[in-house]
Amino acid sequence: MTAGQLHFNAFVWPNGYHESAWRVVDDDVRGVLGLPYYADIARIAERGLLDTIFLADNIAIAEYRATHLPQTQFDPISVLSALAAVTSHIGLIGTGSTTYNKPWELARRWATLDHLSGGRAGWNIVTTITPLAAANFGERAHPDHADRYTRAHEFVDVVTKAWDSWADDAVVGDRERGVWADRGKLHPPRFHGQFHDVEGILPFPRSPQGWPVLVQAGQSPAGVALAARYAELVFSGPPSLEAAAAFRADLHAQAAAAGRDPAHVLVLPALMVTLGGTEAEAQEKARRLEELASPEFRWQNVLYTAGLDPDGFDPDVPLPAELWTGDANVSSRAEQLFAASRAQPDKPLREVAQQLKSGAGQSHFVGTPEQLATHILAWQDAGAADGFTIMGSTLPYELTAFVDHVVPILQRKGRFRTEYTGSTLRENLGLRRPGVG
Ligand SMILES: Cc1cc2nc3c(=O)[nH]c(=O)nc-3n(C[C@H](O)[C@H](O)[C@H](O)COP(=O)(O)O)c2cc1C
Repeated sequence: MTAGQLHFNAFVWPNGYHESAWRVVDDDVRGVLGLPYYADIARIAERGLLDTIFLADNIAIAEYRATHLPQTQFDPISVLSALAAVTSHIGLIGTGSTTYNKPWELARRWATLDHLSGGRAGWNIVTTITPLAAANFGERAHPDHADRYTRAHEFVDVVTKAWDSWADDAVVGDRERGVWADRGKLHPPRFHGQFHDVEGILPFPRSPQGWPVLVQAGQSPAGVALAARYAELVFSGPPSLEAAAAFRADLHAQAAAAGRDPAHVLVLPALMVTLGGTEAEAQEKARRLEELASPEFRWQNVLYTAGLDPDGFDPDVPLPAELWTGDANVSSRAEQLFAASRAQPDKPLREVAQQLKSGAGQSHFVGTPEQLATHILAWQDAGAADGFTIMGSTLPYELTAFVDHVVPILQRKGRFRTEYTGSTLRENLGLRRPGVG
């Protein structure tokens, strides 16, 4: 089988994805709060012909995070709209919650970005893990995992109906007759479901891509089922090549069972990268980052990403057993923590947390550009990936190294584009455009 073209997504994060990044870079610590920081990263990624840049969203910040990490969680659409103005080809993916938004309003914001960027928008569909979000939105309780995914299906259905509320050719612009758009080409959603009621059309015509590209990153069975039904781009956090290949095969089988073409479901595992001119240099950079990592941050972060409030726990005693003996309806990150606690019930939480991966569950690649290119090609050849979500351990430095030294190797091997061939994100990803007549 000939491997296809690779696709790359650059994960944007303040100073880099490693928790110690902000302590090793020389930049002004407040630089991450200004547009130039984001514009710089977007331009570097576009210079490297990457498919997309990606902004996460966290709509409730546990306070421990302010001690340990730069806090820059702006509204992704606001940042991406600004970046649309300083780039012309790269895709712009923003995260949006199906639990704490209204579908019509979210459809409008992402379609706005799609218009303003000339067809480069993508929506990372998340259900929001942290229960702290409920209190920020005036909700009494955070819906449980299964409930959030049930709502997510309906939410995505309504969003796409809103995106389809104007036919592609609705605008006629007939000055003579005084007809701007053909009212007969409007398709109001008139949706009345279990969770949402959405009646009317979006307040502007259909966007260049029809639908912004649908992205998903859930790893639990419910998360994979949602991805199989809707996602065109999937971010995963697999622990090994074998796990990644199994994940991708399972996702493709489920997509096919849902009547979709698996070729239109691209999987880009998350990979943190630290590069050096020699392997020893890269190892030294990674060692320095690890040396600065805080055990205090680690246990709190493991709880937070598992959807628990760290303020309610003592790190010097084991995780309370009633948590991990309960039902299995929990997120994939909680399941990892509970499995580790179940296997060593007497170990203090602090020590158990130390063994678990943090962040998005990504692996950390440390080595030379040649070694990284070899790794990427091996994963693609094994059917484990269609490309990667590249998380520079420090930014923009590791992204610059990736663009200047890894991309040319992949281009020489014929596995990565030498120019953008499409004008929309869908075209660059080889995805079809859903049409509406
Ligand atoms: C690369 C990557 C990026 C993610 N970005 C976000 C994000 O921005 N906001 C968020 O709430 N969750 C984010 N997640 C978490 C997932 O969307 C999902 O909520 C999580 O994996 C738990 O769902 P699950 O139990 O189905 O796995 C991300 C995960 C990965 C692997």
